[in-house]
Parts: sequence; C-alpha cells; structure tokens
Amino acid sequence: MTIGVICGYILSAMPAPNIDTIVSLAKRRGFVFPSSEIYGGLGSAWDYGPLGVELCNNVKQSWWRWLVYDRDDIEGVDSSIILNRLVWKYSGHEATFHDPLVDCRECKFRMRADKIEGKCTNCGSANLTEPRFFNMMFRTTIGAAAEEDDPAALAYLRPETAQGIFINFLNVQTTMRRKIPFGIAQVGKSFRNEITPGNFILRTREFEQMEMEYFVKPDAEHLKLVDEWVEAYLEWFKGLGISGDNLQLKEVPAVELAHYSKRTVDIMYRYFPERAEEERQWEELMGIAYRTDFDLRAHSSKVTDAEGQRMNPDATDDLSYFDEATKQRFYPHVIEPAAGVNRTVLAVLMDAYSEKTNDKGETRVILKLSPQLAPIKAAILPLAKNKPEIVGMAKAIKRSLQPVLRAVYDDTGGIGKLYARQDEIGTPMCVTVDHQSLEDEAVTVRDRDTWEQERVKVTELAEYLQRRLKAAAPLQPIAGSSALEI
Ligand code: GAP
Repeated sequence: MTIGVICGYILSAMPAPNIDTIVSLAKRRGFVFPSSEIYGGLGSAWDYGPLGVELCNNVKQSWWRWLVYDRDDIEGVDSSIILNRLVWKYSGHEATFHDPLVDCRECKFRMRADKIEGKCTNCGSANLTEPRFFNMMFRTTIGAAAEEDDPAALAYLRPETAQGIFINFLNVQTTMRRKIPFGIAQVGKSFRNEITPGNFILRTREFEQMEMEYFVKPDAEHLKLVDEWVEAYLEWFKGLGISGDNLQLKEVPAVELAHYSKRTVDIMYRYFPERAEEERQWEELMGIAYRTDFDLRAHSSKVTDAEGQRMNPDATDDLSYFDEATKQRFYPHVIEPAAGVNRTVLAVLMDAYSEKTNDKGETRVILKLSPQLAPIKAAILPLAKNKPEIVGMAKAIKRSLQPVLRAVYDDTGGIGKLYARQDEIGTPMCVTVDHQSLEDEAVTVRDRDTWEQERVKVTELAEYLQRRLKAAAPLQPIAGSSALEI
C-alpha cells in the first residue's frame, strides 16, 4: 500500500511482511540476537541487545504505569521464580500442565499432538507414535547436597507468574488495606519446556509475562468483566502503535480452556500475514480468563470436600476475604488478563516496520515505533566530526538532554547514513549540529516519519523535543472503569 512520496521515496504503510524480516532487522540493529550463538546456539533461545532491552523495558513500564500508577485499584508485586513445590501441586500444574507429545516414526521429528492433523509437520508421514503426556514445568533441585532424583529437593521454575500473586493475596490485601475489587500485577520471567518452540520470540522456553489478577465478589458480573478487560487491552495495544486491523478476538472453546478457567478470550495478533489462509495468520498475543475462585480456594486451609475433609492439608492459612459491608466471608473470584512481553514486542516491531523505496529502487527501512516505546528518543549528530567545536557542542547537548529523555551521540558516519540508521531503529527525532549552530546557537531537528526539518534554539531544545514526543504519543486509556463500581 502506497501512502505518499517524500524526497523521491515512496512510502509503504505495510507492516513487516513476515517474522523473518524482523529477525534480520533485530539482529542487524541490535534488538535481539540468537542466544549462545558462538556455541552453535540453543534452540529457540534469544538474547535482547542494547536496543531490545530498552524496547522491552519501555513496554513493561508502559504496562506498569497504566495499571499500577494510573489506576487506584491495583498493587504490584515481584514474587520468587522458584516457589515451594506445594504451590504447583495445589494449583493443579503438577497434575495437568502438560501437552500431548507424538514422535514421527519416519523422520523422528517430535510434535504436539494437538497442533497437527494426524500428519508429521516435518515430512508429512502419518506413521506417528501414540500421544503421551509431557509436563511442561522445568524441574530443578534445591540445596547443595540434593541428589538428582531426590523428591524432597524437587522444585520447579514457575510456568506462570500468577501463582506468586495468589499466594500473596492476603499479604497484599492486609498490608495495603485493600477492599474488593482490587488487582495485583506482576511482571517477570516464566519458563515452560515447550515441545515445539519457534517462530523467533513468539514461543520460547523462557519468556516474560505481564499478569494481573483482579479480585472481585463471587456475584460480580464476571463474564462482562472479561469483556471490559478485553476492550481495555485492545486500547492499550493500539496505544502502543499496533493497528486494530492486526488484532482479533478468539473466544476459547470449552474443550481448550485451562483447568482453572470458566471463560477465556484470547487477543490474537496477525503474526503470519504471509500465509494464504486467514485462519492460520493469527496467534495468541494474550488471554483474558475468568479463573473463578479456583486458585484462592486451592491454596486455602479451610476448604473441605463433601465428606468434610480438608482439600489442602498443607496450607497454613486461609485465603478468604471478609467483607465489612455485608459481614460476609468469601473466596474472591478472579479476572486475569495475562500478556506476554516478548509477544507484545514482536507485534510492536512487526506493526512499526515500514519501507520507503526511491526511483532508483533503493529501499530504506523506517521503524515507526510509538515515541513512548522507541529505545532512543533523540540522536545528536555532528555534521562534521573533525571540527572539535561542533563535536563539543553536540556532546554537550546530548549530556544536557539525558536527564529528561534518552539521547545518544553518534558520529560514526556521514549524515545520510546516520539518519538512515536512526530511522531503522525507530528514533523519532534527530538533532544535527552544524557550522551555523556555532553562530546562532540553534540546531536542526529532523522528524523520522516526515523527514521534515526545523531549526530550534538550543535553549529551547529540551522543551521542544518533549512537546513533540508527547504530541506523538497516543493517550493511554483508563481500563475497565466500571469494574471499580462493583
Ligand atoms: N496465567 C495464565 C497464563 O499463563 P497463558 O495463556 O498460558 O496464560 C499468557 O500465557 C501469555 O504468556 C500468552 O498469551 C503469551 O503472550 C505468553 N506466553 C505463554 N507461553 C509463552 C511462550 N512459550 N513463549 C512466549 N510467550 C508465551
């Protein structure tokens, strides 16, 4: 799709045509590198480079600000990755967090049985083993003297951050004097021994989640609340620069629901635009689940079965809540929006990708990242790097801007190359210091998207850049406001 012409370059408004385009940009420009590459790599593990770590941090900060700071009903926590093994016993993960695994007898390829249609995805053979279940939690042992197979030392790396929230429900509720409804948010690493990881950072064995458990009354309108959080997240994703055309909802069918969920809606992103079939273009970006009171009950000491036996004889506390207004005690129900940092980053990169081609057939990549997510907000470039006064002035400008926004100084090429490099990594503004700057104490500010240039006084630069960045950043929505009224 052509949307205009600038300086002889035709603008294309298409997002990345496929994930491979982003893999190559990410490696070339220092966003993401294949992990352990000098030892031949480690299947589907990725390392975030200087720009990737900034982009991830900006996504996480945007999320944290939106939920924990802008709203008044959500607290944050940061729980351990290795929890008491009993957490995973009572959460149901030890018994049910598994995928069906099959091997191809012809080519020995290993696959998830529920993701194929009876045929090997590698060679097409139907000669497959019977499915067997494989628990996806990573195992480890605790303690220096622990034997490999000592059950007393067995522990897991968490497969979701959510359980660290549930087991801290009472700690947070009582210390922060919270009343229902309120939420607890956590961002951090999770681990799953995926059978078929792949597609770059889309499915990996180590990844990061941004999860929030929103605790409500047992008689709240749970299904409606799921819809409200879906809407809120759609707006948040759009605020990050992701086009609504590349987002879709999927009502998860009952047979596919996780063991704790009564309803889940997945927000899907078009990660595979190159695929012919519309259905296969989409993959889950995040899920919003109604988890009922399953988890708080599961970890509670006082819940009993039909015979009056304690369901959890190991728990030392009861995670019920006493409602002062109604004088009732109950286990709060939970709405859980669970998003992946890495999948968000991939969607953001794919959507921000654009190309400009001139009549000589030369193509330039412009990464139209939303300014709030751009790893670098302004690049300060000297027009002549052999002129000490210009270099000195440019470096001084960089230092003066740093307290208010992330700026870099770069003199590693001619100005055309420097602009192109900053366009490709999504820097919204370039500031050029030239000979004239020494006379008039002004610099040229160039816009990434329009390539328009404006002369700005150095004394007004910080305020000017901040204003421009703010104007370009879409407003953050206030999520699910009616949830406050329950
Ligand atoms: N606590 C609920 C939960 O963990 P999930 O749908 O299994 O739900 C939530 O995971 C999100 O975490 C997913 O929508 C996805 O964004 C991310 N995620 C899950 N597994 C992942 C993996 N192997 N690699 C990258 N991201 C993953």
